[in-house]
Amino acid sequence: MRETVHVLSHPLAQSFLTDIRDKDSDRAVVRSRIRALSVLLFYEATRDLPQETMKVATPLAETTGAHVGASVGLVPILRAGLGMVDGILEFLPEARVYHLGLFRDEKTLEPVEYYSRFSEDKPVDIVFVLDPMLATGGSACVAVARLKKWGAKKVKYLGLFAAPEGIRKLSEAHHDVEIYLGAIDSHLNNRGYIVPGMGDAGDRQFSGE
Ligand code: PRP
Ligand code: URA
Repeated sequence: MRETVHVLSHPLAQSFLTDIRDKDSDRAVVRSRIRALSVLLFYEATRDLPQETMKVATPLAETTGAHVGASVGLVPILRAGLGMVDGILEFLPEARVYHLGLFRDEKTLEPVEYYSRFSEDKPVDIVFVLDPMLATGGSACVAVARLKKWGAKKVKYLGLFAAPEGIRKLSEAHHDVEIYLGAIDSHLNNRGYIVPGMGDAGDRQFSGE
């Protein structure tokens, strides 16, 4: 595995992934676990964020502190990536959020863009693409290419479940993008679903039974 691919190995992450996979977990459980896992992924993916040191006065003394020294953007891929936003914003409320709407054509499995909203001003210093499923990798490649066209210099990808095919495609198309994952699964089925995966990530969060 290339060193740009990082997989969470924490016991809590395994527990959250298991709840998400479980077909009997209801929408509330799936949502809460996706939210928690997204925070763990973000925590890992932000270890190298630049820091800005500053003086801070406690009730007892003055000391040196630090805040994040870079502008950060989150790009959830609609719909399924939406569930990854809120937990991360609790950690970094000042992050900007840019929405990108992509769906996969059911027959060709090719991504189709239906919405994007990127500001005209200078792109943020670092962008995190949020999407639970890295399946064929088509959507991730289109998303990263779109961000680079916008001018993004540093892009990281955060996903919950990935198929080897998707990792390969994204790494080959965008060597510079670091990939943070909850799990690498076995394969894609003939409908392009990750096996064992979690099924349809959008439906399980927003509209399923
Ligand atoms: C899912 C998922 C990814 C894409 C991954 O979205 O959230 O965006 O499929 O597949 P790929 O790697 O083969 O491109 P979907 O098209 O189901 O849309 P939805 O989130 O609106 O349900
Ligand atoms: N999109 C999903 O929602 N699930 C998969 O397994 C693959 C793509």
